[in-house]
Amino acid sequence: MARVLLKDLTKTFNKVQAVKGINLEIRDQEFMVLVGPSGCGKTTALRMIAGLEESSSGEIVIDERVVNDVSPKDRDIAMVFQNYALYPHMTVYDNMSFGLKLKREPSGKPWPMNAKRTYTKEEIDRRVQQAAEILGLKPLLQRKPKELSGGQRQRVALGRAIVRHPKVFLMDEPLSNLDAKLRVQTRAELIKLHRRLGITTVYVTHDQVEAMTMGDRIAVMSNGLIQQVDKPLTLYNHPANLFVATFIGSPAMNTFPVTLKEEGSDVFADAGSFKVALRADQARMTKERGYVGKQVTFGIRPEHIFDKRLSGLVEATDKNSLTVDVDVTEPLGHNVEMHLKSGEVMMVATIDSASSAKIGDRIDVIFDMEKAHLFDKETEQALF
Ligand SMILES: Nc1ncnc2c1ncn2[C@@H]1O[C@H](COP(=O)(O)OP(=O)(O)OP(=O)(O)O)[C@@H](O)[C@H]1O
Ligand SMILES: [Mg+2]
Repeated sequence: MARVLLKDLTKTFNKVQAVKGINLEIRDQEFMVLVGPSGCGKTTALRMIAGLEESSSGEIVIDERVVNDVSPKDRDIAMVFQNYALYPHMTVYDNMSFGLKLKREPSGKPWPMNAKRTYTKEEIDRRVQQAAEILGLKPLLQRKPKELSGGQRQRVALGRAIVRHPKVFLMDEPLSNLDAKLRVQTRAELIKLHRRLGITTVYVTHDQVEAMTMGDRIAVMSNGLIQQVDKPLTLYNHPANLFVATFIGSPAMNTFPVTLKEEGSDVFADAGSFKVALRADQARMTKERGYVGKQVTFGIRPEHIFDKRLSGLVEATDKNSLTVDVDVTEPLGHNVEMHLKSGEVMMVATIDSASSAKIGDRIDVIFDMEKAHLFDKETEQALF
């Protein structure tokens, strides 16, 4: 069990600054997901924790020990990669036990006097059997990788990491080679595995759904920097900035420019072709902070837009309703993804499939203003 700390960690390759100074605490037994778009520095960060990449500056602490100068094999970590090459000529059992068989005690003496094995044959067998039990691989131990399905091979790669009883698991997109169904299944298995073993885990993915479903906490990265670290639902409900707001959630949050206008006790977000009133605390805050009269970015998630004709949780008023043209409808079964247009503003809404709205219709929709977001136009930071 161990905690991992990254302090002002940077990495520059020639001229590319891949990681620009990240600070992150991964708590003991935590499942931390690093998520962000391609090229944002996730793999580089993970490889620095593993010791496969030297950091340009900053500190890495694993289990209260600074490990910058500790070699990968002595960091007590186990890595699972996207391309988890198994040895094709070895059985599942041998693939899983291989690393343990090779491990030698450092004796300070030159080879072959340092050749004492770290693990006895019995200990290795115990660990392989235990991992095979956990992963449901017991019936497959004598098979070769080519006799396994993709998901089973993935589990062998995990097994190889588990038998090492590491302090920390580092996983880099371990599910991305699997088809959609198997990915969901293996995702659930990984979550169970983590509950059972409680090993501190850093899990890299660019898939925000994977991040949301797996992470105790999520660190959202963009462009070599961490944008926000928090629990999945906190990221969803209270994104710190426009990047996190549009990255977390699917379909993505709708965002468009509005001008804030005071009318009586209300503050309206005016998008030109329509206006909606901010909820009371947002209205007060925008007044206090001098945003009234200014342009800001308005954000509303597709699932917080409703067809006015359907009775819903949100009551329609003239302060939260607008008229839109239906541009595209994509039926998904339980709901319909609708592309809506009002003046210059395009937005996507996930509408209950009871809606009869068709392409070309002009309909009234409601925004759940309790769930609306505002962002500073320049800094892109959330106003609340
Ligand atoms: N060995 C290298 N030499 C030069 N530049 C590199 C090297 N490795 C990575 N980079 C660059 O560093 C940046 C971050 O790369 P990294 O692999 O960490 O991204 P990532 O977030 O893992 O992306 P992906 O989701 O595509 O795997 C990229 O711009 C990449 O081109
Ligand atoms: Mg990567």
